[in-house]
Amino acid sequence: MLTLNFTKFPVLETERLILREHALSDAETLFAMRTNETVMKYIYRERPKNIQEIEAFISSFNIGFANGDNLAWVIALKENPSQMVGSLGYWRTDYANHRAEIGYMLHPNYWRMGIVSEALAKTITFGFKNMNLHSICANVSPKNNASQQILIKHGFKKEAHFKQNYYFRGQFLDSEIYGLLNPGH
Ligand SMILES: CC(C)(COP(=O)(O)OP(=O)(O)OC[C@H]1O[C@@H](n2cnc3c(N)ncnc32)[C@H](O)[C@@H]1OP(=O)(O)O)[C@@H](O)C(=O)NCCC(=O)NCCS
Repeated sequence: MLTLNFTKFPVLETERLILREHALSDAETLFAMRTNETVMKYIYRERPKNIQEIEAFISSFNIGFANGDNLAWVIALKENPSQMVGSLGYWRTDYANHRAEIGYMLHPNYWRMGIVSEALAKTITFGFKNMNLHSICANVSPKNNASQQILIKHGFKKEAHFKQNYYFRGQFLDSEIYGLLNPGH
């Protein structure tokens, strides 16, 4: 059975990090991140227009969690758990196939410190052991070398390259799908 309906949000801990639920108090930081063109360079989504939009986005994570559709963690450093530095989560849970898509982003001030790697290792294990996923996928721009490299480092394999399957701002863009199978299945 695939389990996403936890009774309580699963807060996770790693050596340096707390992975916790999104709160409305994260709205300004999340807004800053999702309007930061360095962070969003290869994320082809419309940028939020205002804080209200981001608050609605955060509420949608929390509703999605309550419905068992997604699981989105804030990445925070243990020394300051209320300060969001990034986010990471499972989306588009495909119950029939025990599969979910993982996505992540981090504020550039914290890049190349191994933070997403640490969070990813924990959430992959959680996905396989506690959620009983059979496979995890990631959808990446072919230009996003950092994201490709982090996935490869965690054992993902490139499984597909779709030609111009995604329309954004007047262009049809390519996408790559990376996948990881549950080693215990
Ligand atoms: C991709 C991203 C999350 C990486 O986070 P990070 O915490 O800086 O990554 P880590 O420090 O844990 O790096 C782990 C590995 O990823 C790879 N990596 C990370 N950043 C890289 C970069 N700029 N160039 C090449 N490889 C990179 C390396 O293999 C690295 O291992 P190494 O440091 O031993 O060489 C971050 O760059 C980011 O938020 N980018 C913008 C948002 C985004 O594109 N999200 C993904 C959408 S699919």
